Amino acid sequence: MFINATKEKMEFDEKHPLIEIKHLQKVFGTKEVLKDVNLIFPKGSTTVILGLSGGGKSTIIKHIVGLMKPTSGNVVVDGVNVSTCSEMELREVRKHIGYLFQDGAMFDSMNIFDNVAFPLREHRKDLSENEIEEKVMKMLSMTGLDAERVAKLAPNELSGGMRKRAGLARAIIMEPKIILYDEPTSGLDPITSDLITQLILHLQKELGVTSIVITHDMKESFKSADYLAFLFEGEIIEWASNEEFNNTTNPYVIQLLSGSGKGPIQFND
Ligand SMILES: Nc1ncnc2c1ncn2[C@@H]1O[C@H](COP(=O)(O)OP(=O)(O)O)[C@@H](O)[C@H]1O
Ligand SMILES: [Mg+2]
Repeated sequence: MFINATKEKMEFDEKHPLIEIKHLQKVFGTKEVLKDVNLIFPKGSTTVILGLSGGGKSTIIKHIVGLMKPTSGNVVVDGVNVSTCSEMELREVRKHIGYLFQDGAMFDSMNIFDNVAFPLREHRKDLSENEIEEKVMKMLSMTGLDAERVAKLAPNELSGGMRKRAGLARAIIMEPKIILYDEPTSGLDPITSDLITQLILHLQKELGVTSIVITHDMKESFKSADYLAFLFEGEIIEWASNEEFNNTTNPYVIQLLSGSGKGPIQFND
């Protein structure tokens, strides 16, 4: 289904995480969105970050790609401190990171083909137009889209779910080591959601991709996650393996899993 990948058995080495977030604090104006976030992402694993809306989940992953700089603390990606490194180093790190934006952000002025081809044209000057076309069509088909038809369309001619899939095709076209998925299944029907989850798993298993998934979709979370983290009031209040998380005694997590209005999490607004 995917590129000629050799299957590698990945070792989950928690002592040597591929990504490490250390005492990350982020303040916007007077609002401290992230207080003290500490998280590791073992190489080859999938971690799901859960949390309330507006809690700062997207803010965390924007720090991983260096789109945001911490108020204090550090984010280290594959040995590079992306919070302090030069633009040139950051550009190099970003080549290895695929990022599926929450809104599936596409350049409106370009058709889907050119949107998906964009990272290749930026970073892979060695490829011919034919090679680019082959890769773009393959990635679009892989996400379940009718590549021939969709390639020529403008982003606003696609439904939300199709745009999300096209965004995913763009995120994986560089065959990145790390993929950040910001709400990959939100607004999608259960069957398409499952397709996206299977793709996440496929990329992890066949290519050893390290994935970070932000989602509200508990069912999809437990299908794909090796680890789950719960961000609450600016801190990670629970980080556990899939099984441990599911069987937790943490009352905050229990409330989150049950989706109940009753429990220690209070809504004031
Ligand atoms: N660039 C920004 N400037 C000011 N406030 C921001 C910015 N980005 C995010 N925020 C605020 O930070 C909070 C967390 O946002 P976000 O990370 O998008 O949450 P989540 O992804 O968990 O829903 C929100 O209150 C949001 O308004
Ligand atoms: Mg978000």
